[in-house]
Formats: sequence, C-alpha cells, structure tokens
Amino acid sequence: MAQWTSAMGAAQLARLLNSQQDRPAGPGTRRPPAYRALADGIRLLVLEGRVPVAARLPAERELALALSVSRTTVAAAYEALRTEGFLESRRGAGSWTSVPAGNPLPARGLEPLPPEALGSVIDLGCASLPAPEPWLTRAVQGALEELPPYAHTHGDYPAGLPALRAMIAERYTLRGIPTMPEQIMVTTGAMGAIDAICHLFAGRGERVAVESPSYANILQLMREAGARLVPVAMADGLSGWDMDRWRQVLRDAAPRIAYVVADFHNPTGALAGDDQRRQLVDAARSAGTVLVADETMTELWLDDDVDMPRPVCGFDPAGSTVITVGSASKAFWAGMRIGWVRAAPDVIRSLVAARAYADLGTPVLEQLAVNWLFSTGGWEQAVDIRRAQARENRDALVGALRRQLPDWEFEVPRGGLTLWVRTGGLSGSRLAEMGERVGLRVPSGPRFGVDGAFEGYVRLPFTVGGAVAEEAAARLAAAARLVENGVSGGGGESPRTFVA
Ligand SMILES: Cc1ncc(COP(=O)(O)O)c(C=O)c1O
Repeated sequence: MAQWTSAMGAAQLARLLNSQQDRPAGPGTRRPPAYRALADGIRLLVLEGRVPVAARLPAERELALALSVSRTTVAAAYEALRTEGFLESRRGAGSWTSVPAGNPLPARGLEPLPPEALGSVIDLGCASLPAPEPWLTRAVQGALEELPPYAHTHGDYPAGLPALRAMIAERYTLRGIPTMPEQIMVTTGAMGAIDAICHLFAGRGERVAVESPSYANILQLMREAGARLVPVAMADGLSGWDMDRWRQVLRDAAPRIAYVVADFHNPTGALAGDDQRRQLVDAARSAGTVLVADETMTELWLDDDVDMPRPVCGFDPAGSTVITVGSASKAFWAGMRIGWVRAAPDVIRSLVAARAYADLGTPVLEQLAVNWLFSTGGWEQAVDIRRAQARENRDALVGALRRQLPDWEFEVPRGGLTLWVRTGGLSGSRLAEMGERVGLRVPSGPRFGVDGAFEGYVRLPFTVGGAVAEEAAARLAAAARLVENGVSGGGGESPRTFVA
C-alpha cells in the first residue's frame, strides 16, 4: 500500500515554491545550484507545514514542466531530499514527503507545570488567563445556593445536569441554530468532548484530517487514541482554509473525522468565513466524514468590528455531518473544566456511553456555576472582562515584539488567544531550549504540527501584558541571540513546557 495520505499537484507545489522567492535571502547568501535551491524549497515547505508530511509529490516530469526547469534538476532535488530523509519513494507508488528520523521532535507528553513552580520564569506555554473575578466567586456562591436539591440525588449525570443541557441548547437556539436538550452532552472540558468523540469515531488506524498547524494537545490525544493524522496545510496569513486542499484531502483520504477550529484557530488565530464553512461542511458530507467543529475560542473576538460568521453547524441543517464542541475554558476560566458537545440525539447517546468509562460525568458544582453564569447574564459580563484582558495583552505583545524582534513575522489576529510567529529562520525548538536559560517557557512550532513541521515558528499567547510582555519579548530576543551565536544546550526543548 502507498504510504501517502494526500497528494500535491504540480501547479500547486510550483505556486508554493514561487511564493518563497519573495522572502528575503540572508546576508551574504550565495546562489546555490538549481537542484539544491529546489530541494531546500521543498524541505522548508515541509518543515513549515505548508506541504504536509506524507503528501505525494508530483512526478518529476510534471514538476519540471510546472517550474520550467529540466527534469534532471527535479530528479537531483528529489534524490537530495531522499538522502536527507525528507522524501520516500517506492516504485509504482511514487514519492511522498517525510521528516528524518532524527528530527528534533519535541517530547510529546506534555506535563503541566504548576504556577507556584514557575518562580521568576515567564510562562508562555499556556493560552489561559486568570478567572475574570468577581464572576468566579459569584458563580460558585450561586452554585452553592442551588446545590441542596442535588445533594439528595446520587449525583451521577453522565450527559450533564438537565438544567445546564437545556440552557446550552437554548443558547444555540438564540444563535439561530434550533437545538433540543437531548442534543447536548456536558463534558469535562473540550478535551473530554474530543476524547469521547475519538472513542466513538476515531479508534486505532482511523484517519483524522486536521488543520496543520493545530492545537497541540488535541493532536496528541488523537495520536494516543491510535488515529492516523492527515494534516491539511493552513493557507498563509489569516485566511486559513484552502478549500481546494480540503476537498482533495477529504476525497482522497476519506478520513473518519475532520477536526477544525474555525473561530480564532489555535495557534494561528485565523477565522473562517461563511463560504469556507459552507464548503467545509459540503466537502465533509460528500466524503462521508464527520466534521468536528471546536468552538472553544468562539466568543473571544477582540476587535469590536469583527463580524462573527454563522456557526459551522448552521451549514448542516440535516444535522448529520457536524459535531460541535464548546468550552468555558477560554471565554471564562480553564479551572472550571466545563465543556460540551452538540450533535444529533443518537450521537449524544453513543457519546454518553463512550465517555462513561473515562469519568462517568462532570462535577455537579461546576455545572451549577456555569448554569448560574448563563442564567444571570454574568457570563456576558465575565467574557467582556476576558476580552478586554486578552486585547490589552495582545496589543502589548505585538508592540514589544516589533520593538525587540523586528525581523520576526506574524499577522495580528482579530480574536483568540495566540500569535503564530515566524522566527526569522531560527529553529523554534532551539529557541525554546535557549528560552529555558533566560527564564522563558515558550512552545516551539513543531508541537502544533504533525510529524516535525513548523520548525521555523513559535506560538505566543495573550497571557501577559504591560511590562511583563516587554520583558518576555526581551527574553525571547536574548534567546534568539544565543541561538544565532550557536550556543549549545544539549537537553532539547523541555518536555515540561505545558501547552494549552
Ligand atoms: C482549540 C482548543 N480546543 C480545546 C482546548 C482545551 O479546552 P478545555 O480546557 O475545555 O479542555 C483548547 C485549549 O487550549 C483549545 O485551544
């Protein structure tokens, strides 16, 4: 069987390669031979995730034609890539991209570091903010008042408290998506929701299409469930979803599920437009793929003039293609551990059974607290505080980076909690390693890729502002100088850098 999971056409690859030529060459760079330049271009595309790992490349003759170079040049470039471990070939199956076995992939198990262990270290690993007080305290007090009738029950609600299910359903209905309580399951965070979905749909060997890059912990959860990840490269900038690519992958790989974060995508901050949403749902339906839309970031628009598109499930009136996941973690507080799923009632019943052996249910008191927030309007006020914090932090971080690291490139997202930064040709893994020396925890790009892509990136969250943001950027610049000067660390990126 062929080892590739998607295919890259000659015209498409030529377009990507030509777009690289706009990038400035480093100082004193000499022009390499044509085959070397081509091999380097393809290698960079793989490392940046713009060409997925395990993507079949066009035949030599086709690529030569598309690039107007000789076939010998392409053959020599492919040969160089094979020698370096970036390409595998088999007679009859073609050639597909890979990453070398020794590529410095960051450790995959991500261990949370408790805040009290940080000391003077600035932690840019977690895209989570402190609770928007006084709303956490008020919500817990409200929950305590509601608790007595529940204290007389067994307390096991595997699908969630009926009151909270009804409230979440009503909130979808108010967004224009008619929803019944039977279509909602309350989960232990969005992670709990995706875990149950993976149990039900994406067991061992199943293909799962994911944006590349995507949220690190979900990728890891899926890997551990035994799924085969099929990366679909995000387009440059904040436009995000290249629909030709999605249609091709869904058609060619026919994955069991596709996982997307259409609202302020983690890590890029991209926001899908109505058309992209409609096309994603249509392509998934045609391929028989379940489209999982993660709305964890949905309420975090940071600029007032952002027009929020219709929810992805709004383009699936039959309700048979899209499963929606939501969470209180980013809009309110990650310590709450409340998430939910919206799906067809029969899917919810199966998901309830699928989650039963993991955690049986979600804590009642926290469910009551979120229900209190939703029913009193406290939620809206709390989310306003959250948006103001995140906006202020985003603007401080962007300013500090432009001052301290003017060569680094990024697009400023209109919402979400993360900035996806191209590090001016420096290795993100080495930056993370040197960051540890200067008191900064920063996750490298490859944590957000499938199989080693995005070495030239880091992800920075909107979690620090003012003088701390300035200091964080100064430490990043210090780490960059250590990398440029070739200081060796030895240990690699700490597996303890927690990514959320
Ligand atoms: C896109 C996305 N989905 C899910 C999660 C995890 O959410 P929860 O804390 O609700 O489990 C995160 C956290 O960073 C996220 O960014």
